[in-house]
Amino acid sequence: MSHKALYREWRPSSFSEVVEQEHITKTLKRAVITGRIAHAYLFSGTRGTGKTTLAKIFARAVNCLHPNEGDPCNKCDICTKASEEVLVDIAEIDAASNNSVDNIRRICDEVNYMPALAKYKVYIIDEVHMLSTSAFNALLKTLEEPPAHVIFILCTTEPDKLPATVLSRCQRFDFHRITTKGISNRLRKIADAEKQQITDEALDMIARISFGALRDAISLLDQCISSTDDTIDVTDVLNCAGLIDDMSNAKVVQALVDNDVTGILNSVNEVIAEGKSPAGFLSGLLGYLRNILVCMNVKEPDRFIEADGNAVSEMKRLSKLMEPEEVIWYIKELSENEAVLKRTSRPKTYLEIMLLGLLVKNTEKVQPKVQVKDKPVRKEVQKADAVKPAVNETSKPVKTETKSNQNISWSKYIQDRFDKGSKDVFELLQSTIEISGNQAVVTVANDFLKSSLERNGVAVLEEIRGYSKDITNARFVVAGTDKVAGSPEQQITEIGKKHNIPVEII
Ligand SMILES: Nc1ncnc2c1ncn2[C@@H]1O[C@H](COP(=O)(O)OP(=O)(O)OP(=O)(O)O)[C@@H](O)[C@H]1O
Ligand SMILES: [Mg+2]
Ligand SMILES: [Zn+2]
Repeated sequence: MSHKALYREWRPSSFSEVVEQEHITKTLKRAVITGRIAHAYLFSGTRGTGKTTLAKIFARAVNCLHPNEGDPCNKCDICTKASEEVLVDIAEIDAASNNSVDNIRRICDEVNYMPALAKYKVYIIDEVHMLSTSAFNALLKTLEEPPAHVIFILCTTEPDKLPATVLSRCQRFDFHRITTKGISNRLRKIADAEKQQITDEALDMIARISFGALRDAISLLDQCISSTDDTIDVTDVLNCAGLIDDMSNAKVVQALVDNDVTGILNSVNEVIAEGKSPAGFLSGLLGYLRNILVCMNVKEPDRFIEADGNAVSEMKRLSKLMEPEEVIWYIKELSENEAVLKRTSRPKTYLEIMLLGLLVKNTEKVQPKVQVKDKPVRKEVQKADAVKPAVNETSKPVKTETKSNQNISWSKYIQDRFDKGSKDVFELLQSTIEISGNQAVVTVANDFLKSSLERNGVAVLEEIRGYSKDITNARFVVAGTDKVAGSPEQQITEIGKKHNIPVEII
């Protein structure tokens, strides 16, 4: 038998089973009891908080042959058919995949016929904000004068995207995020029924990282159950949620901020002990540093970062402890050594040395003999340090533009696009461009940015064409790097000697 997702198995079938949302369940129950039913409802709010669930319960309740204080009986012919999703009078439409005007017109034609078995025809339109403008207009006509036997329940996570004309014709219910306590209690009930041992701390952790979305919480519990035969503890939860990576990256960055050699070595040990490859770890760390940079530059970084809310808060906190130039410098240094890390026979040692190499400018304990490229210095450090190193000119691309077809400068254009929410231009923020004919050569600060741009080739080219539509071709290059003190390999070997760590680079 195939495994049915736990959250579907645990979809409440009556109002009383729904967790929280009392402001909604109370009103809907009263509507069933008094028979005062509106012809259009709007269920809006965060995902996984019970919109579709309550729409289904309400659709059964208004049609149930023996309702019980507003709740559906879940036993009569109508309730049973509805639960099996074979009652033709209750239709669930996913507007994300049926968003055309024709889809809606078909419904509007259909509503004129009487229900086949039930009292009301109920149309649950999920993700209603996805409808096209013309589809909304078609729907509006029916919403204005619906036949008495029709009920529309529109569900959406983004009510702001609905036309005011539609909003004003619906009775609106805003779904709240479920409280951590509400989620923990529900999860405990499910875990007990599934005979799964789980610690209270693990339950609380699931509840906290689900941010009020009960479906996400149940899915995570489901995942934890399938990944262990034992009692689920906090580590299992963090592992399943993929949070271990963000946590260890945060530790490494904190150690960089604190110039903490032991912290770095401990973090590397932990990560490797968990079975992660040094190269995998480094690429994750680069992504994490990119996210910190986003936090520094964007008002709502959550939109551009794929991580849970707690992890993003941690990134925001760390972003306040550093200067953007410093983060860019870390990214540059680490990405330059990424290729070597993949080739070396002792990747773990190399990784440690690479990270320790980032500390050299700021600790007295770790003074390199060789001169490594200058590291930009945090503001508060600059004040204290009289002989501070100057910021390496080559690490900061100069903002010049040539042969632009536009009146506005390239950097202003990119900044505008970025402010308007285009994700694709993040890597272009400090770039320069040279256009000749239909060719554009875009210069960025480091390999990391370059490969990221190349990965998103098509979208990025579209953005560049927004600046000058003649461009048909874009090439990305890294700003000239002058290696002041030998190759990265030589630098790393020197640092290794200093720490008595054997380095073997092949
Ligand atoms: N308030 C709640 N009480 C009990 N279970 C809930 C509640 N909210 C969500 N769930 C659980 O999460 C699952 C999904 O909920 P539902 O489909 O109602 O969310 P939704 O608000 O429609 O989400 P989306 O916006 O993603 O469509 C349910 O099957 C149920 O297991
Ligand atoms: Mg839904
Ligand atoms: Zn019934």
